[in-house]
Amino acid sequence: MYEVEIERLDDQGRGIAFVESKITFINMALPKERVVCKITKETSKYNVGEVIEYKKKSPLRVTEKCPYFSVCGGCQLEHLPYEETLAFKKAKVERILNKEHLSYPEIEVVKNESPYFYRNKLSLKIESGQIGFYEEESHRLIRVEKCLLARPCLNDTLEDLKKLAIQNGEVLLRCNTNNEVLIALKTKEKIAFDEKIFSNVKLVGFVLNEKCIFGTPYFYERMNHLLFKVSYDAFFQVNPFVASLLFQEVEDNIDKTTTVLDLYSGVGVLGLMASKKADKVISIEIIKNAVLNNIENGKLNHSLNIYPVLGDAKEVVSKLKEEFDTILVDPPRKGLDQNSLQLLLKSNAKKIIYISCDPFTLARDLKELQKVYEIKKLIIFDMFSYTYHVESLVVLSLR
Ligand SMILES: C[S@@+](CC[C@H](N)C(=O)[O-])C[C@H]1O[C@@H](n2cnc3c(N)ncnc32)[C@H](O)[C@@H]1O
Repeated sequence: MYEVEIERLDDQGRGIAFVESKITFINMALPKERVVCKITKETSKYNVGEVIEYKKKSPLRVTEKCPYFSVCGGCQLEHLPYEETLAFKKAKVERILNKEHLSYPEIEVVKNESPYFYRNKLSLKIESGQIGFYEEESHRLIRVEKCLLARPCLNDTLEDLKKLAIQNGEVLLRCNTNNEVLIALKTKEKIAFDEKIFSNVKLVGFVLNEKCIFGTPYFYERMNHLLFKVSYDAFFQVNPFVASLLFQEVEDNIDKTTTVLDLYSGVGVLGLMASKKADKVISIEIIKNAVLNNIENGKLNHSLNIYPVLGDAKEVVSKLKEEFDTILVDPPRKGLDQNSLQLLLKSNAKKIIYISCDPFTLARDLKELQKVYEIKKLIIFDMFSYTYHVESLVVLSLR
């Protein structure tokens, strides 16, 4: 056991202290707190510790609302007041960008008006009849009755799901802002599905092992005056309120343009936001159902100038013949692949709007892009409240 003082938070919201001069990451510990900790993992470079006793607590500390906070690992900042979690995220992004010596304007932060009960998607494990999440960095299941980040209709679905008495498998619960629920279950067991089991929710579809056995394998979402069809396996932002503000910001930053590239397009949301100001939008996406949704979303919203392409961005970009004056990129956490980065650097596009869910890969890509582009705007959208994850939007213009 060691008694230590927490110096600051790391990028994952863990307290940093030094135990015999070695950096030690301690969950649930805030700056300026004195804690007695035990070391749970030791490597040559760092330790991971766990609080045994708080000797002095931070005046900032608030009592967490979630009973699973200390074990689940799904959210990491619930012991801080909401405004402080935003300050943490801003400082985190600044630190990461400064490490790459990037020049950027003052970062704006867009808050989440309701930082609880916002998620429209839950991915859960089922083991020995228990439903829950895996504990952070382990395969130990934490049984969950209710997730405080999830929209209430998903918690109701979780309650109903228990009646199916599945022993082992994994389940994805999704919903729209109208509280219509879509369930995708993977299990080797025979299940006795009956829609009446889901008496507490508006069930629109049930997909069992990739096959739709009730309703539709998709739902519709209405946002920003547009209608989106979203397949059970297609990406859609998890926080509809904040996503709507993000989409609006994208639209506001698109000038009257000729050809737009929407790279990593999902069901085509950003391309659709751009389509009214563009002659042509080419979107690229790797998930087939998302591309099919995008084709339909173009028609649903009378945007017949969208041309969705199915494929891996790193292969498709090298075959593109068009010239783009605006490029939208919204890659997964690993950021841009080399081919896409090269396309952007050589594109001569007047504007790039880069949406990122990982500030580390964002900073890496911006370091390259800054050779040709200037960062005009950087906004953090608090899409993943009470977690350490950060969603950012960057507007770049050709130098
Ligand atoms: C963060 S999401 C953005 C989706 C969309 N822009 C939106 O706002 O809903 C990233 C998307 O990239 C897709 N994706 C991941 N790897 C890809 C790749 N190598 N090539 C093309 N698309 C990819 C994912 O399937 C996902 O739809």
